[in-house]
Amino acid sequence: MALSTVNFAVLLVLTLTSLCAGTSGPGAYLYPQFYQHSCPRAQDIVRSVVAKAVAKETRMAASLLRLHFHDCFVKGCDASLLLDSSGSIVSEKGSNPNKNSARGFEVIDEIKSALEKECPQTVSCADILALAARDSTVLVGGPNWEVPLGRRDSLSASLSGSNNDIPAPNNTLQTITTKFKRQGLDIVDLVALSGSHTIGLSRCTSFRQRLYNQTGNGVADSTLEEAYAWQLRSRCPRSGGDDNLFSLDRVTPTKFDNNYYKNVVAGKGLLNSDQVLLTQSLETMALVKQYAENTDLFFDHFAKSMVKMGNTSPLTGAKGEIRKNCRKTN
Ligand code: HEM
Ligand SMILES: *[C@@H]1O[C@H](CO)[C@@H](O)[C@H](O)[C@H]1NC(C)=O
Ligand SMILES: *[C@@H]1O[C@H](CO)[C@@H](O)[C@H](O)[C@H]1NC(C)=O
Repeated sequence: MALSTVNFAVLLVLTLTSLCAGTSGPGAYLYPQFYQHSCPRAQDIVRSVVAKAVAKETRMAASLLRLHFHDCFVKGCDASLLLDSSGSIVSEKGSNPNKNSARGFEVIDEIKSALEKECPQTVSCADILALAARDSTVLVGGPNWEVPLGRRDSLSASLSGSNNDIPAPNNTLQTITTKFKRQGLDIVDLVALSGSHTIGLSRCTSFRQRLYNQTGNGVADSTLEEAYAWQLRSRCPRSGGDDNLFSLDRVTPTKFDNNYYKNVVAGKGLLNSDQVLLTQSLETMALVKQYAENTDLFFDHFAKSMVKMGNTSPLTGAKGEIRKNCRKTN
């Protein structure tokens, strides 16, 4: 009896805590049916614009998936990434990870204007990013998942947050792990979400250091497979060619599958941050090998980790707003 009373008390406290934590806690008040009554066609509209954009250019699936990541890692998933500079706002689009790199903003604009026609000032830009990331993944062969909704849009941006909180490709595994932890994301999330690099492209400038001067002693990264390194050097010279593009997954660059992990196992991960998952910790190495062997496991973990990433510090309730135009506050 005493035990069940204690259990009941614990349950009550947990329930109250989660209700009260509503405006800031992870996952607070987000649920897939959020627009069921206020904008029943919202998800269809997002999907159809994304499908059209990806049909026109396959890479757009990758670019849209990445936008959700770069949004969520900076002050939570609040569409701060989408704001252009104006007044006191300094756009995150100019940060090191985003400059000459983040793309797909016009597609988000197109989704937003279609939604404004259907149901004015109802669907947030932050939710559009979360839905577009899911739809993009599905369109190129990846797993499906239900997207919790109800995020609101920020009134500000953080350039310093974008520079500091998004991992850099030459960060150590330790630093990358710390940056994920800051978002409430663990090692499984890190390894599973890095599997996003099964699609999309990288510029030469993002991995050149590995090819020529990994640690400042004029020597290439020894964990990079030799023949692959030679191949990369031909279009990524010591200087120049910064914006030359390379597939993050050399085998099936436009298909969402587990070849990314097979590449990493073979020493053919493109970014240093990809390869260190194999070489700098036994725990991440074990996950890389499991995902390389088991697509279902990768897809299952990826979907769960995307929901988890999408739940980081959403603005809900009275906080934030529903922007009319994703590029500026109302
Ligand atoms: C683990 C730490 C990560 C690092 C250091 C990292 C770094 C990078 C870099 C340097 C690029 C190439 C950018 C360029 O050269 O223009 C890139 C591309 C990309 N990243 Fe990541 N990334 C990480 C995690 C993630 C996560 C968690 C996601 C999604 C959930 C993601 C999705 C993508 C996609 C899809 C692309 C290709 C984009 C395109 O083709 O437009 N990345 N990443
Ligand atoms: C990582 O790359 C940046 C930008 O190219 C560079 O400034 C920095 O020195 C590099 N860090 C390390 C540890 O190599
Ligand atoms: C490698 O980088 C270090 C410092 O990062 C620099 O002093 C050195 O000149 C570079 N060596 C070569 C061969 O580029």
